[in-house]
Amino acid sequence: MNFAPDIFAGRSAVVTGGATGIGWYIVRMLGGLGANVGIVSRKEENLVRASEQFKAEDGIDVAWRTGDVRDPDGIKKAIDELANENGGLDILVCNAAGNFICPTEELSWNGWRTVIEIDLNGTFNCCQAALPYLKNAGDGGRIISISTTGANFGWPTAAHAGAAKAGIQNLMKSLAVEWGGYGIRCNWISPGPIKGTEGVDRLIIQQGMAEKVTKSIPLGVFGDGDDIANAVVFLAGETGKYISGAELVVDGGAQWNRR
Ligand code: HXC
Repeated sequence: MNFAPDIFAGRSAVVTGGATGIGWYIVRMLGGLGANVGIVSRKEENLVRASEQFKAEDGIDVAWRTGDVRDPDGIKKAIDELANENGGLDILVCNAAGNFICPTEELSWNGWRTVIEIDLNGTFNCCQAALPYLKNAGDGGRIISISTTGANFGWPTAAHAGAAKAGIQNLMKSLAVEWGGYGIRCNWISPGPIKGTEGVDRLIIQQGMAEKVTKSIPLGVFGDGDDIANAVVFLAGETGKYISGAELVVDGGAQWNRR
């Protein structure tokens, strides 16, 4: 960790999908830098496992609630409770996502709808629920959504996720304008393949694409979870105070290799 250990002391964060994958690294980083972190995730067993691990390995206490970002009432309740428990809410990280590889010709309506609802509608639901708290954030509220560069270029065989993430990016641009007057900064991070995550396992490794994808990354390796967590810190901290409506790409240069 390369940041001062208390830079988020007195600040509170909620990370959706923070019990696994990229979200897990974001929670550990924010908690390690002094934030009161709450996680909302669907599966209680993942929440219990992650919170016990954070406590044992890093000395971090996290609060958690089970919840599905597709359920606006449930998400509002979870965010209300976490904000009350953690003394408000300064930083919302919209990380929860669903995805799978499926040619669009074969994609069912329900498959399409499911990913749009988790990724795009879920981000909307969380932003709406967090708004009353973010308005009162002392240093200016922060919304950071986890997207993908696939949203900028098209994502063949994951068109559902590409479209949903493109929607998220556009939502962040709109909220940067609409909620800027409340001091809320709205940005998104577009990760490349991050090793050890379920997404990379199912979308790349299980498809037999690991070697091809690795070769396509100019820096030659998959990213670490902490590469994304570091970007969150940059946007959520003092360093991000004049950044809003922006994309931070963390992909080893892969987006420009269209060969
Ligand atoms: C085709 C599929 C499918 C698949 C699900 N569906 N998986 N269709 N191929 N592999 C269809 C189902 O058949 C169903 O449609 C519909 O989607 C809903 O499926 P359910 O299983 O009922 O939905 P649910 O339980 O809500 O599961 C949601 C999910 C799931 C998206 C399908 O995969 C999920 O939540 N995964 C965990 C989260 C995750 O993977 N996060 C990491 C994202 S990584 P029918 O018509 O049959 O009813 C990421 C970036 C990766 O986004 C970057 C890599 C570079």
